[in-house]
Amino acid sequence: MKPPKPTPRPDKVSLWRYLKLFRKDLLSAQPQRLYRAWMAEFRTPFFRSFMINQPELVEMVLKQRPDDFPKSGRISEGLRPLLGDSVFLTNGEAWKRQRRIIDPAFEGGRLRDTFPAMLQAAEACVERVRGQAGTVVECEELTSHAAADVIFRTLFSVPIEHEVAAQVFEKFRAYQRQQPLLNLAAFVPVPRWMPRMHARNTRRNARDIRRLIKRLTAERAELITAGLAPDDLATKIMTTPDPETGRCFDTREMVDQVAIFFLAGHETSASALAWTLYLMALFPDWQDKLCAEAEILENPSFTTMSKLKLSRDVFREALRLYPPVPMMVREAACPKQFRGRKVPKGAQIVISPWHLHRQERLWERPDDFDPTRWGTENGKNCQRHAYIPFSAGPRVCTGAGFAMIEGPLLLSMLLRHFRFELVEGQTPVPVAHLTVRSKDGIWLRVVER
Ligand code: HEM
Repeated sequence: MKPPKPTPRPDKVSLWRYLKLFRKDLLSAQPQRLYRAWMAEFRTPFFRSFMINQPELVEMVLKQRPDDFPKSGRISEGLRPLLGDSVFLTNGEAWKRQRRIIDPAFEGGRLRDTFPAMLQAAEACVERVRGQAGTVVECEELTSHAAADVIFRTLFSVPIEHEVAAQVFEKFRAYQRQQPLLNLAAFVPVPRWMPRMHARNTRRNARDIRRLIKRLTAERAELITAGLAPDDLATKIMTTPDPETGRCFDTREMVDQVAIFFLAGHETSASALAWTLYLMALFPDWQDKLCAEAEILENPSFTTMSKLKLSRDVFREALRLYPPVPMMVREAACPKQFRGRKVPKGAQIVISPWHLHRQERLWERPDDFDPTRWGTENGKNCQRHAYIPFSAGPRVCTGAGFAMIEGPLLLSMLLRHFRFELVEGQTPVPVAHLTVRSKDGIWLRVVER
């Protein structure tokens, strides 16, 4: 049994057909040979794109010379109405300062403090699913709800049912549906202003989301001044001064950051968890192993998490096969050479975790689901050099540690109580929206154990 993979297009198609395929989906628009290529070049009348799929090149761009490859302006454009100058979009000094303030909130010790809120969200998720036991459930919806709950509880100490939280969640869902073309601008020969074309609805949504977030942030600022703020991530970030300048975020800057925490923090985890549940239904023997391991959650604590080894291996394998962020785009700030080819200034550099994680020259049986691979020589080697679900280098995901607790925790809590079963005729097809999603949802039958 193979996990679902989009059918690649034939190697040779006309430019017109290529553009049409791209508009449909970024993943199936790529030819099969990219799974074996070290690099591919796309020429457009306006700029050039290079997709790099070789560990040495990826390392150079992300780790060794990150300042020469800032985030691509073409891609940021589409997200700016929502994310403003958030850490996800900034470059250079502004970005460095933001990371100095944000990073301490996600350090190991803080994760321990965050755990109780995560656990409450996981327990609430189990209760919600219990109400649906015996029925066929759309799992992306289930996991989006759960991951949004985790973010609200850890960041602002409020559950998803909170009036403002619920509204933000609803608006984000609409926003995600309107953003299917995010990374398109790196491939397709459209002028720079193109990503703004679909913006009217998206802009209105972005404005509404920011208004709601501003309310949460302003209320929190008052609580901090009054000395009554809960000790959560928002308080931590809003009260941490930049060690170099001594300045904290002002309210507008904090709104930008909160927007990215919601977006990056819940879309990604939800995508990963939904695919993991599907894989569990496809491989029920693994599901049973995780259920047995999850007995340890009888008395859950932060320390228990290190004992959920199989759960972590499974979640890690799901992140390999379905990396929630399928592609990342950078821009060459100066001329470069890749594999002897000239890369002009302004070229778009596409790094595709989707392709690197299935690079046929590196991984053994790249399209198979095999959580035991992490214990093999090949798996260990590839994990070091060809596995980047959270990116790598200085711009690595701030929430990586957070996500690697949240994912296995939610997964094991769910599998301890429920069995997830395939539904005939419902095989999900991966497509690249803001994150890797299934074209028509992920439908599974949930049975109480
Ligand atoms: C399974 C879950 C997650 C995955 C797979 C994931 C993946 C990623 C990736 C690939 C990037 C780099 C994007 C790029 O450079 O273009 C990123 C950046 C980021 N992520 Fe995550 N993420 C996850 C969860 C989270 C969570 C839970 C949070 C926060 C609560 C978070 C916050 C961020 C932020 C703030 C950035 C921007 C970092 C920067 O540019 O300096 N992520 N994430």
